[in-house]
Amino acid sequence: MNLKKISPENAEFNVFKKIGSDWMLISACDESRTDKKLNTMTASWGGFGVLWGKNVFFCFIRPQRFTKEFIDASDTISLSFFNESYRQALTKCGKLSGRDCDKISEAGLTPYIENNAVFFKEASVTIVGKKLFAQYIDKNSFIDKSIIDSCYSAGDFHEMYVCEITGIYKSDNDM
Ligand SMILES: Cc1cc2nc3c(=O)[nH]c(=O)nc-3n(C[C@H](O)[C@H](O)[C@H](O)COP(=O)(O)O)c2cc1C
Repeated sequence: MNLKKISPENAEFNVFKKIGSDWMLISACDESRTDKKLNTMTASWGGFGVLWGKNVFFCFIRPQRFTKEFIDASDTISLSFFNESYRQALTKCGKLSGRDCDKISEAGLTPYIENNAVFFKEASVTIVGKKLFAQYIDKNSFIDKSIIDSCYSAGDFHEMYVCEITGIYKSDNDM
């Protein structure tokens, strides 16, 4: 498996398909922990863009996610994208919690840590980011209040993280 670093300008992918339909894993590590060094979870909300003069991605994590503990402890977040044959693995990582089981092995995925970022051998693309900004979604800021009922009936408002993209790595198993 070879990883090739590509520039954001040359990253040809459709964000609506990649995130919204194909899904991604959001991961972070905390090597000071004694129970687990890293965790990951499936996500289908988030995006990429340009903000504060930087290329960024942003993602949204509910407070109860075990992954959030790792994200909050780390400066680095990584997004991993897989080809369709890993749909079951992503379904598992989006249903089970790393708090209760070793879902990463159960999903048949092989993680490793490099420069404080989590990678998976099976991923086709990995995007690594440095955290710049984090803030909980504020209920009072909704202009369309219907979203509060449709997405937050349990009151578990996401925390939004904006990260500067520090690397986009394409594997030779990318389609
Ligand atoms: C398709 C899909 C998309 C998801 N998107 C998000 C998301 O954007 N943010 C979030 O907090 N949880 C999202 N989840 C839920 C988490 O992946 C799920 O709760 C997971 O089990 C959390 O694992 P953890 O407790 O090990 O962190 C999604 C789940 C699926 C199946």
